[in-house]
Amino acid sequence: MALNTITLLQPDDWHAHLRDGLALKRTAPDLARQFARAICMPNTVPPVKTVAEAIAYRERILAHVPEGIAFDPRMVLYLTDQTPVSEVKKIKDSAHVNAVKLYPAGATTNSDNGVSDIRKVYAVIEQLEEHQVPFLLHGEVTHSHVDIFDREKRFLDEVLAPLLKQFPKLKLVLEHITTSEAAHFVIEQDRNVAATITPQHLLFNRNDMLVGGIKPHFYCLPILKRQTHQQTLLEVATSSNPKFFLGTDSAPHSKDAKENACGCAGCYSAPTAIELYAQAFDQVGKIERLEGFASHFGADFYGLPRNTNSITLVKEPQVIPTSLDYLDGEKIIPLYAGQTIQWRKV
Ligand code: DOR
Ligand code: ZN
Repeated sequence: MALNTITLLQPDDWHAHLRDGLALKRTAPDLARQFARAICMPNTVPPVKTVAEAIAYRERILAHVPEGIAFDPRMVLYLTDQTPVSEVKKIKDSAHVNAVKLYPAGATTNSDNGVSDIRKVYAVIEQLEEHQVPFLLHGEVTHSHVDIFDREKRFLDEVLAPLLKQFPKLKLVLEHITTSEAAHFVIEQDRNVAATITPQHLLFNRNDMLVGGIKPHFYCLPILKRQTHQQTLLEVATSSNPKFFLGTDSAPHSKDAKENACGCAGCYSAPTAIELYAQAFDQVGKIERLEGFASHFGADFYGLPRNTNSITLVKEPQVIPTSLDYLDGEKIIPLYAGQTIQWRKV
């Protein structure tokens, strides 16, 4: 019989963008109402580069969490060519910082300070491996001659495979995977390699973005791929393989910045993220596999305790708002705006 109600341990988001300043008024409550914890991505302006900066950023996030909601922001440092090796030990000793993020320079939003050549940061990576601090990767090459749809696959061959050869015990998360090649690559590695998957890459493919007119609100990086890749992602996300877990990549950009001749990359899914994942899992008849993906495997990988409180989802239609307030008088168009999804968090 089809399930119409499911109760699961409260999920965590292992990849979210909250931005800083006024944006937190929108992003922190949206995320905190859904998740117990979130890995807060460091590509703010300026980026979060040290443990001290991460702790200060965490306080700014906490200041916007609504009264009565328990939310534990988990922090990440933005790796640059200049990151001192000594910062890794500080992460290991910190109660709030969990990881280091690699943005290849130029790969995505606010990645200009990212790493120009991964070999330049091998000394830091050696320390990450030594201390078993997770290394989170935006897995795309950035050379202008490489087709945007091939950038993830090329990263696997040209950057990730050699990296793991050099550092076989490195604890690593390939973030927001979008291709069958990435999914299979992760499956073939040892237990130290995992991946996050976003709701947009489970629910949509490039036809949704490009057929019948360009839909800028589906534009994110890595870009949506063809349907066969979407199908593989659905298979692995719902396979109960603990290497694959929830990471929304929810990323706020104002309506004007998205609906633009040079539109920004990012989908804002935070307010209904778990329901969007429920929709995806249910569509392939695997709703009972949601809890492992959303609430167990990420915590286990990061070596953090699983949450103890629960949430309930019911199968009842929910219309996603057509827009949300953002900053001073701007709007955000959330993922799947104005559409009806079949699940609702109670
Ligand atoms: O679509 C994306 N948006 N991909 C990223 O990697 C970054 C994110 C953002 O920060 O807006
Ligand atoms: Zn991201």
